[in-house]
Parts: sequence; C-alpha cells; structure tokens
Amino acid sequence: MSRKILLLPGDGIGPEIVAEAVKVIEALKTRHGLDVETEEAPIGGAGYDAAGHPLPEATLAKAREADAVLLGAVGGPQYDKLPRELRPERGLLGIRKSMGLFANLRPALLYPELAEASTLKREVVEGLDIMIVRELTGGIYFGEPRGIREREDGQREGFNTLVYSESEIERIARVAFDTAMKRGKRLCSVDKANVLEVSELWREVVERVGLDYPEVELSHMYVDNAAMQLVRAPKQFDVMVTTNMFGDILSDAASMLTGSIGMLPSASLNADGQGMYEPIHGSAPDIAGRGVANPLATILSVSMLLRHSLGEAALADRVDAAVGQVLKQGLRTADLAAAGAPAVSTREMGDAVVAAL
Ligand code: NAD
Ligand code: IPM
Ligand code: MN
Repeated sequence: MSRKILLLPGDGIGPEIVAEAVKVIEALKTRHGLDVETEEAPIGGAGYDAAGHPLPEATLAKAREADAVLLGAVGGPQYDKLPRELRPERGLLGIRKSMGLFANLRPALLYPELAEASTLKREVVEGLDIMIVRELTGGIYFGEPRGIREREDGQREGFNTLVYSESEIERIARVAFDTAMKRGKRLCSVDKANVLEVSELWREVVERVGLDYPEVELSHMYVDNAAMQLVRAPKQFDVMVTTNMFGDILSDAASMLTGSIGMLPSASLNADGQGMYEPIHGSAPDIAGRGVANPLATILSVSMLLRHSLGEAALADRVDAAVGQVLKQGLRTADLAAAGAPAVSTREMGDAVVAAL
C-alpha cells in the first residue's frame, strides 16, 4: 500500500514553496519509484478562512492518519488582530501539541557553495554542520497559567509560565544523546541555569541521562553565551539541545551561518515515530506572492521526511545531492544572491532541483 503524505501549505509563501516540494515528490514518484500519495489540507490562516479555525478538526484527523506531514508556513498581518486562540500560529502550536511532536531537529548545514552567501567570513562557517535539538511541546510556549490580567493598582500585567517536568527533559535529552551518537558524539546543552530554577533541573536531568551515554562528551552553556559563540566560532558545536523558546531563537540565528533562513529544514517527531516536516522560517509576508522565496528549506524538509518517516535514505541522499548540484551550477534565489547579482525565481529553483534529481 502506498504511504500518505499530508501537505499543509498554510499562508504567505507557504503555498509557493510547498508547490516546489511537491514537484520534487512527483519526480521521485515517476522517476525513482517512490510510492506515496499526497493530500492537501488547510492550516493557519488558510484553516481559519476555510473552516473558521487555524487547526480544523478534519486537518488534524488527516495528519494523525498520514505517514508524514509536510508543512509550509503559517501567519500573516491580516490575521494578527484575531483573538489569540484563532491566530494562525495557534494552528501550528496545536498540531505540534496534539500529535506530541516534542523533538524538533533543526540541522544547520553549510553547503560549501554558499560560503560566500553567509554574512560571516568564509573561514568561520566553512564546514559547518550543527544539529539543534529543540524541545517543541513544552516550556514557556505551553505553560499554565498564562494570560493578561488586571492588578489591584489598575494596571494590566501579562504573564506566562516556564515549566518543564523531569520526564519532558529526559525524553528530549535522550533524543539529543541518540543524535550525538550518530554524529560527532559531542552534545552542548543550552540553558539559563545561573538564573532559572527550570534550567537547574534541566541541567541535572541532562547530566543524569548522560550517564547512559558515556561516549558522548557533554557540555553546558548559558544561552546568552551560546548566541555569541554561534556567531563567533560556530564550528565548536556538534549537537545542541535546548528548550522550546531558546531553540526557536538560536535556530534562526544559526540559519544565517548557512547563507539564509531559506536553507534550514526541520523534522518534528513524536514518541511513536510520526513526523511533521517544515522549513524553520515563517510565511514571509514581505515577499509573499512575488515568486521570489527560496524553496530549498522546504525541499530539504522533504529529504528529512524521506529519511525519518519513510525509511528512504537513498532518495533523501538524492534530494540533498540535487540541492548541492543546483547551488554548484550557481543558481541563487534573491536571499542567497550577492548584491546586484541575478537571482532565480522560486519556480526556477524548484525546476532546477527536479532536473538535477
Ligand atoms: P519570517 O521567517 O516569515 O521572515 C523573516 C525574514 O526572512 C523576512 O524578511 C522574509 O522575507 C525572510 N524569509 C523567510 N523565509 C524565506 C525564504 N524561504 N526565502 C527568502 N526569504 C525568506 O519571520 P517573520 O517575518 O518574523 O514572521 C512572519 C509571519 O510568519 C508571522 O506571522 C509569524 O508568526 C509567522 N511564522 C511562522 C512560522 C512557521 O509557520 N513555522 C515560523 C516563523 C514565523
Ligand atoms: C517556528 C515558528 C513558530 C515557533 C511560531 C510561528 C509559533 O517561529 O516554527 O520556529 O515559535 O515555534
Ligand atoms: Mn521560529
């Protein structure tokens, strides 16, 4: 029986970049024997427009049934005035939480051809290969209580709760150590243990899990220093593990080491091995509808989907190699092109990858 991929294009540039990823999937089907079926469903603003909710029930039901989910991006200024529970971002957070996708893998890998596209010096980024393991269903994003309330003095105050249980820390730490075992066997856990009790517990649990992985060299770093080290000397890192919000911020920063945020894919996995795949960037309202967005992060997310959810490592390698080849040919979307140099469109980039497959 052929396997099912659910496509969730979402908003802004989401549909444009997912369309290019679909071309890649179709080419793998017709030319390389990939046996999958795709179906599409609305999420985010598109979910709100179609069904009055950023995560329509039918969309979630299809996602649960699928072998893997490929998401574009959600959000846009036209939705920012909606009540918080109806905003596009809630759809994304909702599907992550409902499916238990607690482990978010965000690889920051520099394609050698893009060393000049990075805003950092070539020698700083050349050979870069970091894996950021971000906890995705806990922490301050989901902690209760949360809200905006009126105080006795008449002022309002906003509040959120940063909370992690031992079991939440332990399972993401295990994913990080397992990941490190398959790579360079170095793990850096990023926290704020000099200030936060949550981080104190985080560090303690990570240390404890580390006893099961004597071959992995474990270190700890405060998040402010980690942000600085990422731009000072990023190649010191192999695998990094951190909380939901720190991982969100550090992965955007790490993306620029690779040339553009348009290059970073991700995999979000649950305990049953189900996965959702998406670029780490957003819906880019500033460039949406112009056909200039970089589709490579989404195409590389297809590669992660093939590897982690479908067991198709050879096809994943093929996609990664095709991306390398188009970059070697000199093709650059606007985000990667040098100032004044010609750039290709979203569609031209997708077509070139398909041709190189
Ligand atoms: P963003 O990532 O959408 O854009 C930041 C900058 O990067 C913009 O200048 C944009 O043009 C550029 N960029 C992003 N992806 C690109 C690509 N593929 N090719 C070329 N350039 C690209 O972040 P933002 O502007 O802070 O957020 C915009 C909206 O997206 C918000 O509604 C936000 O909530 C949402 N968002 C969604 C996701 C997601 O769906 N996973 C992630 C981040 C932000
Ligand atoms: C991401 C995004 C999301 C996050 C938002 C849109 C909810 O920034 O996937 O990185 O913060 O997780
Ligand atoms: Mn983000």
